Amino acid sequence: MILRAHAKINLSLAVRGVRSDGYHELRTVFQSLALHDTLRFAEPHAGLAITCSDPAVPLDERNLVWKAAQLVWEAAGRSGEPCGRARITKRIPAQGGLGGGSADAAAALVGWNRLWATGLPAQRLCQLARALGADVPFFLHAGTALGLGRGDDIHPLDDAPSRWVVLVFPPFGVSTPEAFRWWDEDSRRLPAPGSRLPAEPESQAAGEVFNDLEAPVCRRHPELVEIRRTLEGAGAAVAAMTGSGSTVFGLFGTRRAARAASGRLAGAGWTGLVTRTSPRSRAGLLEHVGLV
Ligand code: C5P
Repeated sequence: MILRAHAKINLSLAVRGVRSDGYHELRTVFQSLALHDTLRFAEPHAGLAITCSDPAVPLDERNLVWKAAQLVWEAAGRSGEPCGRARITKRIPAQGGLGGGSADAAAALVGWNRLWATGLPAQRLCQLARALGADVPFFLHAGTALGLGRGDDIHPLDDAPSRWVVLVFPPFGVSTPEAFRWWDEDSRRLPAPGSRLPAEPESQAAGEVFNDLEAPVCRRHPELVEIRRTLEGAGAAVAAMTGSGSTVFGLFGTRRAARAASGRLAGAGWTGLVTRTSPRSRAGLLEHVGLV
C-alpha cells in the first residue's frame, strides 16, 4: 500500500499567548502543497522495520512512523509487538516548517490502520494524531484548514484558490521549540507581544498572509528577510515564513511567474523549488482511504 504525505505551509499563523500546558495558543490557516513524501507499507515482517531514502532520518522509536505503529497496535487491542515494514521516500526538507515529520506520522496512522485492518475510525485516528504532535491532525484532513488551540483543533475550510508556490530553503533549519522560545523572549522584551512585521500593501491585497513567529526568527536569522524581499521583488503576490521556519514561501498566479522567480532566487544563491497548492481531494489522507 502506498500513501502520499503532503507538505503544508501556514498561510497565516497568529500566536495568541502561552497556555497552562506550556504550549502556545494558535490560530493558523494550513494549506496543503503538491510536494510530498511517499510511504510504502507492507507485511508480514517480524517486528517493525522502517527504511528511509534520507540517511539523516532515525529509523527506530524516535521516528513518528514507528510511534504511530505502536499507538495503532495498542489502540486496536492487539497483543505482542507490531509487525510491518514502512519505506519512506523523503522529499520534504526537515526542520523547514513544512510539516514533513508530521505528514509522515499522519500517513503512518492511516497506513498501519489499513495494513492491519484494525478498523479504527477517523475520530480515534485524530486522537492518536494529537498524541504524536500538534501539527499531525491537520495532515489527516489536509487541503485548507483552520487550526485552533495548539494547532491541533482542526476545522476544514473550503479549498483556497489554487496558487503556485516558490519555496526557498535556507541552509539552516529552525527547531519548533526554539522558535516558540524566541517568541516568548521577544514578547517579554518588546512593548507589543506577538506584534507582526508591518504588513506590506501587497499582502493586504492578497488576503491574510502573516506569521507571528517570523519576527522572532528573522531577528536571529536576518537572511530570511532578504529571501522574503527577493521573492516579493521577483513578483510574489505575498511572501512569508511557514510555521516555525526556516522555509520562506512566495505565492504566484502562474507557473511561469513562479519559475521565473525561482530562477532569480537561484541566481542569488538560494535553494528552492516550485510547487503548487493541493486540494483536500488530492492531499487528504482520511478522504483517500474513505474514512470521511
Ligand atoms: O507538538 P509538537 O511536539 O510537534 O511541538 C513541538 C514543540 O513546539 C512543543 O514542545 C512546544 O515547545 C512547541 N509548540 C508550542 N505551541 C504549539 C505547538 C508547538 O509551544 N501550539
